[in-house]
Amino acid sequence: MPSLSSASSCPTTRSMRSLPMWGQEDQDLPSGTVLANAYRLSERIGRGAYGSVYRAEQISLHRDVAVKVLSTSASADPELAERFVREACAVSRLHHPNTVTVLDFGRSQCGRLYLVMEYVPGMTLTELVTRAAPLPLAQVVELCVQVAMALEAIHAAGIIHADLKSENILCERLTRGELVKVVDFGIARLTEAGVSRVLVPDPAAPLRSEGAEVGAATIAAHARGTPGYIAPEVILGAAPEPASDIYAAGILLYFLLTAELPFGGRHAREVLRRQLDGPVMPPSLQRRDVPESLDALVLRATARKPGQRFADASALRDALEVVAHELPPTQPSCDRDSGDVIVH
Ligand SMILES: Nc1ncnc2c1ncn2[C@@H]1O[C@H](COP(=O)(O)OP(=O)(O)OP(=O)(O)O)[C@@H](O)[C@H]1O
Ligand SMILES: [Mg+2]
Repeated sequence: MPSLSSASSCPTTRSMRSLPMWGQEDQDLPSGTVLANAYRLSERIGRGAYGSVYRAEQISLHRDVAVKVLSTSASADPELAERFVREACAVSRLHHPNTVTVLDFGRSQCGRLYLVMEYVPGMTLTELVTRAAPLPLAQVVELCVQVAMALEAIHAAGIIHADLKSENILCERLTRGELVKVVDFGIARLTEAGVSRVLVPDPAAPLRSEGAEVGAATIAAHARGTPGYIAPEVILGAAPEPASDIYAAGILLYFLLTAELPFGGRHAREVLRRQLDGPVMPPSLQRRDVPESLDALVLRATARKPGQRFADASALRDALEVVAHELPPTQPSCDRDSGDVIVH
């Protein structure tokens, strides 16, 4: 897996934790591996800094599940293990149609920590944009309404996602429209211990913000999340708050509209610096059919100061619903298996 600094092809979509700190010694678990006498793994469907996500069968119930398996070294790290347990417990309290349901959690015979989730037969929003951009405006707004509803539930449960982005949101095709499922929340807190090992302080390349020079060590010590989505105050060292998830939702909205992130760069530092330097530009500059009301919504969600953003996820949802009523109706849907995107 490439390091953050070498991930120049797409630095803005890699979590700061998606780095070769842990688990590089682990081979993929082969198809057919039975975990904890209960889950028969089939193909790997995702890979992160600490392990992999597999499609699997829950043998007793003959149902599909998704299993996130931590690498051997991450599973053996007491702090990471404790965080994984804590976050798994927190996330298991969430019961909402727009957040993935956690079914089980444990440690396998060979010492690997695992988290079992409902299997979502869909594609990530990154894949959807790659296949189908430009998405119809009504579809974008509807997807974001569901993301806002997920955030309402997540925040109500006292959880900050802290790594909301298109790769961490799945969409499942329904008979009418799509169902969004936010994944990979809370577990992001696992990264905290690792971040300081990731961003090497570089006094020669300070970040400048509101006239103050901010050394890289500040970022290294506190920031977590994904460059491009991470809120400015979090870059500067504040703890993630609901408002920082709102910021990420605004960035997501911009991405769904334009198929681009508002802040690019050759490497993570450049992306972070641009985030601190300037506001998000209106998406209508990239895509002419974006109405003023949607421009305003993106700018408010991504306001530099947390207090200038929507007060909470339900205020964001309300604003999206107002915009939705102004747009012509469309009912697009996606299908991971066929890759088809259908607009009814
Ligand atoms: N419940 C699920 N159902 C179907 N696919 C899933 C599920 N959970 C995760 N995935 C797939 O696995 C990928 C990785 O999952 P997740 O984001 O939870 O892992 P990760 O280790 O944090 O990866 P990264 O750090 O690179 O984002 C997702 O982008 C998605 O494609
Ligand atoms: Mg992820």
